[in-house]
Amino acid sequence: MARLAGKAAIVTGGARGIGGATARRLAEEGAGVLIADVDQAAAEENAERIRSAGGEAQALRVDVSRNADVEAMVQAAVDTWGRLDILFNNAFDVLTAGSGGAVELPEESWDRDMAVLVKAIFLGAKHAVPRMKETGGGSIVNVSSVHGLLGAPGFLVYETAKHAVIGATRQMAAEFGPDGIRVNAVLPGHMLTERLHETMWRHNPSGLEFFKNQYPLRDVGRAEDIANAVLFLCSDEASFITGHPLAVDGGLTIQLQENFGVRQGHYLKDNPDTQLPY
Ligand SMILES: NC(=O)c1ccc[n+]([C@@H]2O[C@H](COP(=O)([O-])OP(=O)(O)OC[C@H]3O[C@@H](n4cnc5c(N)ncnc54)[C@H](O)[C@@H]3O)[C@@H](O)[C@H]2O)c1
Repeated sequence: MARLAGKAAIVTGGARGIGGATARRLAEEGAGVLIADVDQAAAEENAERIRSAGGEAQALRVDVSRNADVEAMVQAAVDTWGRLDILFNNAFDVLTAGSGGAVELPEESWDRDMAVLVKAIFLGAKHAVPRMKETGGGSIVNVSSVHGLLGAPGFLVYETAKHAVIGATRQMAAEFGPDGIRVNAVLPGHMLTERLHETMWRHNPSGLEFFKNQYPLRDVGRAEDIANAVLFLCSDEASFITGHPLAVDGGLTIQLQENFGVRQGHYLKDNPDTQLPY
């Protein structure tokens, strides 16, 4: 029996990448999936791919930072399947993320990125929760990142937003638990999506090898790794899990950077009287 038979799901940013793979995985397990994305043509393409594999999917143009779009998105899922059980808040264009610390980052970049990464989660819950309550509960999964646990100088808004996603997840889990609605987060490490392959690594295989070696598992992830984690969090197998930030990161966040350990070892050898502050 399919694990999500009879359920209806919304995947934001579901046209490609992590959202694309998750939309396909949820559909494989029997959910009807609404693919909500600013890129309507690509969303239609992924929906068609799901339908030709025997699944159920619809596509809708949605900008998740706009209240009216998010309201229409939830209504479209309910109009199609008569219910809403799963909301995967994932949309964001990583390649356009504002860069810089507080001094350099333009105010508009802060507002734009916080709206897509954080406000969208608030808007999603605002419209989805009342519909989930009608059928006795549901599951919301928010995409944070390893950047939600650790800092990276020069990326103030992304780091702040991904930390905030974990905070919002815990807050909403406490708030909606009594309604049978579980709220969790997934924290991807580096996932080799189609776009990141094209833009960062296709012409730089040695850079990718170096990057992989930062991970205890000596590899970066794939969109399907996140799709499987989201499927688990949405399924009945996770029925007692809520408010949890699940790192899917090949162990990246469990150790100090290897170079740091090596450098620290050399430093201590050369300066044996040094007391480290921990
Ligand atoms: N790829 C990674 O390594 C990685 C790591 C950690 C976290 N993440 C997070 O995962 C999520 C997805 O990343 P990805 O790498 O799959 O990205 P991607 O660029 O491959 O896909 C993102 C999708 O979101 C859509 N989108 C962008 N802005 C939107 C908006 N305002 N409304 C609706 N749709 C919108 C895009 O059109 C696109 O289809 C992001 O939240 C990102 O921060 C990714």
